[in-house]
Amino acid sequence: MSITDELQVTIKQMVQPGKGILAADESQPTIAKRFAPINVESTEENRRAYRALLFTAPGIEEYISGVIEFEETLAQTADDGTPLPELLARRGIVPGIKVDKGKGPLALSSGDFITFGLDGLAERLQRYKSQGARFAKWREVYEISDHNPSSVGISANAEMLARYAAVCQEQGFVPIVEPEVLIDGDHSLLRCSEVTEAVQKEIFHALHRHHVVLEQIVLKPNMVLPGKEHSKRASAEEIAEATIRVLRRCVPAAVPSINFLSGGMTPEESTANLNAMNAAFPHEPWLLSFSYGRALQQPVLQAWRGKAENIAIAQQALLKRARLNGVAQRGEYDSRMELED
Ligand code: 13P
Repeated sequence: MSITDELQVTIKQMVQPGKGILAADESQPTIAKRFAPINVESTEENRRAYRALLFTAPGIEEYISGVIEFEETLAQTADDGTPLPELLARRGIVPGIKVDKGKGPLALSSGDFITFGLDGLAERLQRYKSQGARFAKWREVYEISDHNPSSVGISANAEMLARYAAVCQEQGFVPIVEPEVLIDGDHSLLRCSEVTEAVQKEIFHALHRHHVVLEQIVLKPNMVLPGKEHSKRASAEEIAEATIRVLRRCVPAAVPSINFLSGGMTPEESTANLNAMNAAFPHEPWLLSFSYGRALQQPVLQAWRGKAENIAIAQQALLKRARLNGVAQRGEYDSRMELED
């Protein structure tokens, strides 16, 4: 199969109405942070057991089309010895891999970040492909302050995302392009909207310069929200309207799917906001869906608490959130559904 055909098969499987992506790609420090409140030590075996719990949850393939994994997980197996990526593939879920190596300060640009990991990326992708991965994820992070992100921060991050996406497509991996404007701070919804627009515009210029085929990427952006410390909350309808306005200005119709990150919203908020977009704007050119980490996993971790006897209820908690987000992708969610099992 040609690389183009390979990318097309993958994107078609990833982008399906009523389905989204599970982000289960926490790095070692991040998963340790998620395990700490439930008193689970981040050992290799505990991480394996937890990811196996997620990937074997009955019924999730109805609502989850792809899972983003961390490098370690690609080599781990379920209790019966099946490699975890193979287990997903057998269920019709596309295995993916986080390929960036995390962020650090952007030199000489106070308050801006940059993400590392381009060196040797093509070779790593070849290895990941032999382990079953077919799409990749790379996250750039933008913190809002009075002076950030700066214009050099915005252009340097766009360049990284575009170079990553180009390497991925050359190697037959669908790139998830993830620019995350953080929810931290006391900025207004308007400020988030201006920053998100500037960030996304620059990214699409860079993707164009680097010959990235837009039909074969997934955009994973933040929703447009007021900062966590801002004095005024916004309704799901306001968030939906502000987010769609920015996306319309920035994202070409060639992009098949926009899968939001949850970025610190509660599970219920992230479902309600996604639903508000699909309910009020049902005719956008892109599928509007989810690629949630915390918003899908928080209730699962709470139910599991590291105990084998809790696996079944933890899996039910994942199925419930996956289902409600699948319903929100169709714009048919109602908060009363939270009360059902
Ligand atoms: P959250 O949904 O928890 O923001 O995680 C998504 C993700 O993949 C961040 O890179």
